[in-house]
Amino acid sequence: MSEIESIAIAGASGSLGPHVLKALVDANFQVTVLTRSKEPGAYDASVKVVEVDFTSVESLTAALKGIDGLVSTVAAAAIENQTVLIDAAIAAGVKRFIPSEYGNCTTSPKVEALPIYAPMFKIKQYLQEKAKAGKLTWTVLACGAFLDFLFGRPILLDFANHKATLFDEGDNRISATSLPNVGKAIVGIFKNFEATKNKVVRISEVILTQNKLLRIVEGLRPDIKWEISKVQTSAILKDGLDELSAGDFSMPIIMKILTGTALAGDIYGCAYDETDNELLGVKELTEEDLKKLVDGKLA
Ligand SMILES: NC(=O)c1ccc[n+]([C@@H]2O[C@H](COP(=O)([O-])OP(=O)(O)OC[C@H]3O[C@@H](n4cnc5c(N)ncnc54)[C@H](OP(=O)(O)O)[C@@H]3O)[C@@H](O)[C@H]2O)c1
Repeated sequence: MSEIESIAIAGASGSLGPHVLKALVDANFQVTVLTRSKEPGAYDASVKVVEVDFTSVESLTAALKGIDGLVSTVAAAAIENQTVLIDAAIAAGVKRFIPSEYGNCTTSPKVEALPIYAPMFKIKQYLQEKAKAGKLTWTVLACGAFLDFLFGRPILLDFANHKATLFDEGDNRISATSLPNVGKAIVGIFKNFEATKNKVVRISEVILTQNKLLRIVEGLRPDIKWEISKVQTSAILKDGLDELSAGDFSMPIIMKILTGTALAGDIYGCAYDETDNELLGVKELTEEDLKKLVDGKLA
């Protein structure tokens, strides 16, 4: 019998959650969805859906009885509150917890003190303490930026308007992974219970730079003239932190702190030269795959 047969997922209705849920169902695990509300609730018929109160250890413990593994894909704003989920997982006898984090620079010690990342470090520390006491095991999945987001939004290149704002000189290296492959890697973690125990594992489908993408688009469509500008990530980060300390907690300020770190490249460890791709079943994109992806955006 394998260690993990039944898995619960929290946050299955979001951007990442449905991809993780699909991968778990496809891998034939018995899956339970923990949700704040069953509405609208278009889940696969094989999935058990339980409404829970994420602020109550009792409510979560009851829902987690008989569950071997718990993966959280809850929203960034709910990351800090995962201590309640962890306490409930321990009370219910869950063996492995994968916290919601899924970033590129989120495990770099350089971001530990920054406001948006601090809750992730708090959760990692909480998990380490619980694991040391033998209460449960954990795995953090660092997956780089979501590839779907990088290509679906004008972040690295604005494909629709043929514009690019280069971060620094455009050579910042950023690991990226598609949402379905993040789901696949979660399955890989549960299937490789010992090899992924109490550690950060890394996946990276591709390492991108803006200049690399520009070379590809220019090769594919030499007729298109791109409008290029430049910004310094250190200046964006400083702006964001100054505005935050002046009391502005709005989304544009959070985005500045994110941009100034997650797109700043190697300074914040945003590109993974060493990965757990093979262990977790993630295939890297070839140059041809990347070209096709870019070509699709130019069409
Ligand atoms: N690497 C990247 O590029 C990247 C990009 C975006 C996000 N992320 C990370 O990926 C993870 C998931 O992000 P996402 O964008 O998929 O999240 P999301 O869509 O904003 O939310 C996911 C789900 O979390 C649940 N949720 C929301 N508020 C909650 C609360 N207060 N307590 C408990 N559950 C709550 C909801 O599910 P129910 O309504 O069913 O309860 C929601 O559908 C986060 O850790 C985020 O930091 C990484």
